[in-house]
Amino acid sequence: MRSRTLVPTLGAFLESEEAAHSSAPPDWIHVLAGLARAGTRIARVVARTGLTGTLPRTGDRNVHGEAATRIDQYAHNAVVEEVAADEMLCCIVSEEAEDLMPIPSSHPDGGCILALDPLDGSSNLGVNVPVGTIFSLLPYSSSDGGPGAGLTLTEILRPGRDQIAAGYVLYGAATVLVYTSGRGVHGFIRDPESGEFLLNRRDIRIPSPSARHYSTNEAYTRRWNPRQHELVRHFKRPPPEGAKGFSARYIGSLVADIHRTLLVGGLFMYPAFRGKPEGKLRLMYEAAPMGLIMEQAGGRATNGTEDILDIRPRHIHQRTPLFAGTRELVDAAASHLEGEAANSE
Ligand code: AHG
Ligand code: MN
Ligand code: MN
Repeated sequence: MRSRTLVPTLGAFLESEEAAHSSAPPDWIHVLAGLARAGTRIARVVARTGLTGTLPRTGDRNVHGEAATRIDQYAHNAVVEEVAADEMLCCIVSEEAEDLMPIPSSHPDGGCILALDPLDGSSNLGVNVPVGTIFSLLPYSSSDGGPGAGLTLTEILRPGRDQIAAGYVLYGAATVLVYTSGRGVHGFIRDPESGEFLLNRRDIRIPSPSARHYSTNEAYTRRWNPRQHELVRHFKRPPPEGAKGFSARYIGSLVADIHRTLLVGGLFMYPAFRGKPEGKLRLMYEAAPMGLIMEQAGGRATNGTEDILDIRPRHIHQRTPLFAGTRELVDAAASHLEGEAANSE
């Protein structure tokens, strides 16, 4: 009988690859399993929204003043229900919650911190553009006397380099889960029949040579600083004889833009500009998790000049500019933008 190579499920992969080898307390894999369960629930609701074409709005606004949809709230609640069950967390930082959310944890050393964008790109839902859930897991050592001793913000506001694991669930033509725990980036695709997430991309690396894509919202061109202008003009110039030129790709849903950049390469940019001095994307639950994914896949992520993973958040909803993708392209952007710093001295 032909042996069928069994494709590992997410659970089996986590047990064999992570629980056995991970340097971080292995309990975090239960949080990742909870995120996968929540992703399954959210995918179902997202698909229905795509079918009905409605975008039920709650009428209120989230902490960023953006019109929160019922689905953002649904996604937030689904994740909280699924991950709090294992009591492996001490708190959640969520785009949909103004303040830190302490979680009763029975974990002996306090458990870990989950930073979460429950639904990224939700404004695209009504037109069936892929959206996603972004997650970042940070260690929490209750240095101030045990899990019940109250959370200190200094323990929560940690640079992305401290992450135990990070990744996203992308709700597109297929539902995929991509994560890293610092030992490569792995992709799983949800099998609609079994409901299982099956390993389909092990140790994802940004290809070299990478796609010559630049990805940014050019509607803001007139608000960019001169060096950002110059950088994008550089991408638009006719290529040298025999070389390939750049193409523009921009979906407007971070998870979809990053997933494409991870698989084919390119440079995603959400710069700061007049009116958004710190850019739009949030450091703890958008830029830092995507930064770890990019670095683990051989790429890089900066705020234009410094590594995203080295930036310590000042507050839980801090925004940051984000340049992410093929290392050479992110480096080229940094040297352009540092040039701006030199000019303005
Ligand atoms: P969210 O839906 O979580 O608020 O995130 C939306 C973000 C991100 O998905 C995307 O990269 C960016 O908004 C697009 O912003 P612009 O429409 O300004 O280009
Ligand atoms: Mn988002
Ligand atoms: Mn969101």
